[in-house]
Amino acid sequence: MTTSSFIKNAFIAGAILALATPFASAQDLPPGEGRETLKKVCTACHDIESVPRLRYSRADWQSLVYSMKDMGADATGAEMDQIIDYLTKNFGKGEEGAKKTNVNKASAKEIEAGLGLSTKESEAIVLYRMKNGDFKDAAGLAKVEGVDAAKLAAAKDKIEY
Ligand code: HEC
Repeated sequence: MTTSSFIKNAFIAGAILALATPFASAQDLPPGEGRETLKKVCTACHDIESVPRLRYSRADWQSLVYSMKDMGADATGAEMDQIIDYLTKNFGKGEEGAKKTNVNKASAKEIEAGLGLSTKESEAIVLYRMKNGDFKDAAGLAKVEGVDAAKLAAAKDKIEY
């Protein structure tokens, strides 16, 4: 093999490796507002594989994100806030991370924010509760028409009855 073909092959192998090992797999970063912003802004200098393993309070995420900004992260103020909200919600610590939503007491707005449901779905839950009384468990909640079962399943650890 000539030197130049060796370099070419090494280059191709490197490119394939880079494609095969993406920054962080989609499962590690739950969907939600801010995910794409995080990927766009935060992978500019390093990968973010370790991020989903961290558990920080909002204040700590905020100071980390701001220190990245100081180091040159290219993000607007709104994008920074979005990233901080996303990280606190998904990789939070203590109160904020573990915050539960009581589907028998919360307002539609609180259900929407806390469980990631749409406005319509959250309102359907409140209306159903007003008509039929408190929910006792997940099976009861699943009876509400028009609420995406996959979203409820994803939020199950955050639901309180
Ligand atoms: C301009 C380049 C740059 C960008 C963009 C950037 N970082 Fe960093 N990041 C660094 C450098 C350099 C370090 C290592 C220095 C350090 O740890 O202080 C680092 C370290 C880290 C660490 C490890 C630090 C620790 O205390 O354990 C985390 C977590 C991190 N970055 C997250 C992020 C997140 C989240 C974003 C998006 C908001 C981001 N980074 C964007 C440059 C960057």
